[in-house]
Amino acid sequence: MGIRYHRMFLILLLLHGANAALKDPVQKWQTLSGAPPLVIARGGYSGLFPDSSHLAYQFALENSLPETVLFCDLKLSSDNVGFCKTCLVLNNSTLIAEVFPKDDKTYKVNGEDRHGWFSVDFTSDQLMHNVTLIQNVLSRPSVFDGTMGMSLVDDVVGLQPPQLWINVQYAQFFLDHKLNIEEYISSKAKEFGINYVSSPEVGFLKNLGVKLRKSNVKLVLRFLDEQLIEPSTKQSYGAILKDLKSVKTFASGILVPKTYIWPVNKDHYLQPATNLVKDAHDLGLEVYAYKFANDIFSNYNYSYDPSAEYLQFIDNSDFSVDGVLTDFPSTASAAIACLAHTKGNPLPPPGNDTRPLIITHNGASGIFPGGTDLAYRQAVEDGADIIDCSVQMSKDAVPFCLDSPDITKGTTAATMFLTKVATVNEIQKGSGIFSFDLSWSEIQTLKPDLVGPFSQQGLKRNPAAKNSGKLMTLADFLAFSKSSNVSGILVDIRNAPYLATRGIGIVDAVSSALINASYDKETRQQVLIASEDSAVLGAFNKFPGFKRVLQIGNVISDASKQSVEEVAKFADAVSISRGSVVQAHGSFLVQFTNVVDKMHAANLSVYVGLLKDEFMNLGFDFLANPMVEIVTYSSLMVDGIVTEFPATAAEYFRSPCSDFSKNLTYTIMPAKPGSLLSLTDPSVLPPAEGPAPVLDPADVVDPPLPAVTGGGHGAASSPSNDSSTKSSAIAVGASSGFCLLVAGLAALLAASSR
Ligand SMILES: *[C@@H]1O[C@H](CO)[C@@H](O)[C@H](O)[C@H]1NC(C)=O
Ligand SMILES: *[C@@H]1O[C@H](CO)[C@@H](O)[C@H](O)[C@H]1NC(C)=O
Ligand SMILES: *[C@@H]1O[C@H](CO)[C@@H](O)[C@H](O)[C@H]1NC(C)=O
Ligand SMILES: *[C@@H]1O[C@H](CO)[C@@H](O)[C@H](O)[C@H]1NC(C)=O
Ligand SMILES: *[C@@H]1O[C@H](CO)[C@@H](O)[C@H](O)[C@H]1NC(C)=O
Ligand SMILES: *[C@@H]1O[C@H](CO)[C@@H](O)[C@H](O)[C@H]1NC(C)=O
Ligand SMILES: *[C@@H]1O[C@H](CO)[C@@H](O)[C@H](O)[C@H]1NC(C)=O
Ligand SMILES: *[C@@H]1O[C@H](CO)[C@@H](O)[C@H](O)[C@H]1NC(C)=O
Ligand SMILES: *[C@@H]1O[C@H](CO)[C@@H](O)[C@H](O)[C@H]1NC(C)=O
Repeated sequence: MGIRYHRMFLILLLLHGANAALKDPVQKWQTLSGAPPLVIARGGYSGLFPDSSHLAYQFALENSLPETVLFCDLKLSSDNVGFCKTCLVLNNSTLIAEVFPKDDKTYKVNGEDRHGWFSVDFTSDQLMHNVTLIQNVLSRPSVFDGTMGMSLVDDVVGLQPPQLWINVQYAQFFLDHKLNIEEYISSKAKEFGINYVSSPEVGFLKNLGVKLRKSNVKLVLRFLDEQLIEPSTKQSYGAILKDLKSVKTFASGILVPKTYIWPVNKDHYLQPATNLVKDAHDLGLEVYAYKFANDIFSNYNYSYDPSAEYLQFIDNSDFSVDGVLTDFPSTASAAIACLAHTKGNPLPPPGNDTRPLIITHNGASGIFPGGTDLAYRQAVEDGADIIDCSVQMSKDAVPFCLDSPDITKGTTAATMFLTKVATVNEIQKGSGIFSFDLSWSEIQTLKPDLVGPFSQQGLKRNPAAKNSGKLMTLADFLAFSKSSNVSGILVDIRNAPYLATRGIGIVDAVSSALINASYDKETRQQVLIASEDSAVLGAFNKFPGFKRVLQIGNVISDASKQSVEEVAKFADAVSISRGSVVQAHGSFLVQFTNVVDKMHAANLSVYVGLLKDEFMNLGFDFLANPMVEIVTYSSLMVDGIVTEFPATAAEYFRSPCSDFSKNLTYTIMPAKPGSLLSLTDPSVLPPAEGPAPVLDPADVVDPPLPAVTGGGHGAASSPSNDSSTKSSAIAVGASSGFCLLVAGLAALLAASSR
């Protein structure tokens, strides 16, 4: 039996739970102990649920490696009861200011005035029964706000975490308020089963060390920003860092901001690693790094793949940190259990039995300007199976690769050819500068321009390469792909009827280029012709070796039997948007549609797109990890995924976790639509939109292509027909699938900022 069984096995796992036999490969780690690095869940799964809430801790345990450590930032109430909550002022992440509006105070904390609500002014009863938690990071769901109370340390202990880490940020402040955390911890360490205590205060750790001399509790010095002053030694943390030997006298490890290990320059690129980890390890000190979160931008080198960041710290050739403190413990777990030490693994061949095809969108356009030599080279290097060219036409009928006929998107045209601004309603609403109004020699004077779909939200793509690379003609592209080891190419053809009225025959131009590059006789590489227009696909019938892909850009909720039968007459595959595979509500996944199954029943392959790594465009169920989205579509047996970040997909399929028959202790599970939603109060979600339309035959059958008129350059040999308007009710917008999710996210953001 093939590995189709493997992917089927996943479905069984989902039905029966994942408690399979443990058969993990033995790995070597450059941690101090040689054991795998620890996953330390900061306030539980605080990337999703309010920090230190019951659900956050529970979800962290359920979705992380078995050894995961729960991290509790200790606060004491006025009656000396311990709670877990990050931040000294409670009003940052609770509704305390609404319940006790007059109980804010100003206190000196390490010599500076802090204003807000402090646990030392409230009894444990008040904190337990009157105060509820909220999410304080805008990009995270606010729907759980006000539904859970503060967690007692006892509550967290009650979840029976494999390991417990207590952080004490302001021991001196509590002492000023007659609350002795040292006493508290030393009296409770055994009862709670505390494994680690961290603090930025040297004096506190030294004293606690004396009290805990006989225990196994590990003490960890937490470093703050280098220029800040440690209160008991009055030295800066930067200075203490230079004297790790003396740290070793009272601590067994250090907890440092991740930039202490991998610094980032002012342009947000990663610099070479410091020697910190190796130096500390030489002294026998463990090193833990903090500030890991999938949804907080750190630098461009990771290209929005949060796994890349963990791997940088645990799987480089020189060292591994001993643990990572993270808001997204499942992503850290996956990096450790699935992705580390897999870079050299072969990518299993694509196929119905193994994995979907990795199809690019304008090459690796998440990293380099789309459609350029650099983007294609990167895509091949990153493991793409199929590289794609979205064909645009110059005025003199030269086909070239670029995402949009409006070349203000993707090139510097707007700065150079303002006189060519035009409005072409057949192509897009609003004006643009169109490739078919410029000659190829004019277009060649342009530079590519990498902007990225989330620049306005502050998530740029690789700005150092903003204008790098060169645009390629279709002939250049085909010469490149021929000489590479990709298993195929996808050529996307749009706007053929309009171009015909401008005297440009795009179908003929593409056919000639393919023939000239002898792709009509190619057997090693598959040729996929993609279009939203059935007539364009029909025009390629004469190439029996080509696979024809119907682009269905708009979101559909279902496909009628007749429409699927029609599609099967002229296409071998469909490319559908993400929203046509899984329905979403307010950025939560609701349910899978059965579009994939319906297409498969007619022997149509299904490609899903467009995948992008930026967390902004992921439903909450994907846990701000683009890899979870890939796993999810793969589990639905789609035949290809269309992505701007092929490296992320290849990284997953190279890992042992993509083979579900391996029964690993930990694996990356696909999202289960509806499961997070069921934890929310439906009344706080934005109103549900009506279901998307059902695909009908009228949506997929287009009129024959019109004759190419107006004396353009390409050989005008298309069948003659007057009709140039598309009957299709499904207009194509490449990105409509994810707009659904982003719109939901935007609505949530608006709601949570009140
Ligand atoms: C994996 O675990 C399942 C259920 O425990 C078992 O039936 C199956 O034989 C195991 N497969 C392998 C390859 O060990
Ligand atoms: C907490 O409350 C104080 C006093 O109203 C205010 O100055 C501070 O900004 C609040 N902090 C947050 C994070 O809301
Ligand atoms: C409030 O929480 C946010 C998010 O965790 C953090 O960035 C900010 O510094 C906090 N504010 C205070 C006053 O602690
Ligand atoms: C706090 O909770 C208690 C018990 O539920 C209730 O009696 C009291 O009114 C609450 N106090 C405030 C200020 O809401
Ligand atoms: C990060 O990216 C920049 C620009 O591509 C490169 O010069 C640098 O070497 C990278 N840093 C690391 C640590 O890989
Ligand atoms: C293609 O693969 C072959 C065999 O694996 C290898 O020898 C060759 O260098 C590869 N070519 C390119 C351009 O990567
Ligand atoms: C045809 O292919 C040759 C190389 O095989 C290339 O030099 C030439 O530019 C191509 N012509 C066209 C029109 O694509
Ligand atoms: C799909 O293909 C299989 C085998 O290739 C064939 O038996 C089956 O009849 C086909 N189904 C349809 C609906 O064409
Ligand atoms: C994979 O499945 C699709 C649809 O079920 C079919 O069209 C295609 O031929 C299959 N490919 C292979 C390599 O079996």
